[in-house]
Amino acid sequence: MAISISLTVNGSPVTADVQAHTLLVHFIRDTLRLTGTHVGCDTAQCGACTVHMNGRAVKACNVLAVQADGANITTIEGLAAASDGALHPMQAAFRECHGLQCGFCTPGMVMSAVALVAQTPDASADDIRRQLDGNLCRCTGYHNIVKAVLQGAAAMKQSAEQSAALEPAAPAAIR
Ligand code: FES
Ligand code: FES
Repeated sequence: MAISISLTVNGSPVTADVQAHTLLVHFIRDTLRLTGTHVGCDTAQCGACTVHMNGRAVKACNVLAVQADGANITTIEGLAAASDGALHPMQAAFRECHGLQCGFCTPGMVMSAVALVAQTPDASADDIRRQLDGNLCRCTGYHNIVKAVLQGAAAMKQSAEQSAALEPAAPAAIR
């Protein structure tokens, strides 16, 4: 029996009928055709399917689509600036630091890294290695991934500081 769900995906409202057993990752890839979210294992081990659900990184093969009813989902396609398509600072850092080879793990790695830095802006290399241990990479040996996350974290911090500086000052109190 199909169940109707409504959620927000990359800023756009989505309503669809899904089966009770449909995994979020299959809904994202097969129904929404957002194929940047990869399937490596389907058993919550590799992290290739990582997306953000209400601001937290989740393995989309470990979540039923019906559990995402009402949620705010961001996939790798939603990370670049909606206005001009510019790469997110973390994506740019992966490119600059050669944090990928075949690229299969990269969308999940980037989504996990962005969530990690949002939660721990000053994460050390050791923190990054520990916290990304749910994301597997068969190619890189991880060194450049850690470098990329450190560089991406610094760029995210700088961009947050610039945005804060551009915000209008609070109006002075009227006496
Ligand atoms: Fe989800 Fe591997 S496909 S963790
Ligand atoms: Fe190939 Fe990570 S770059 S699996």
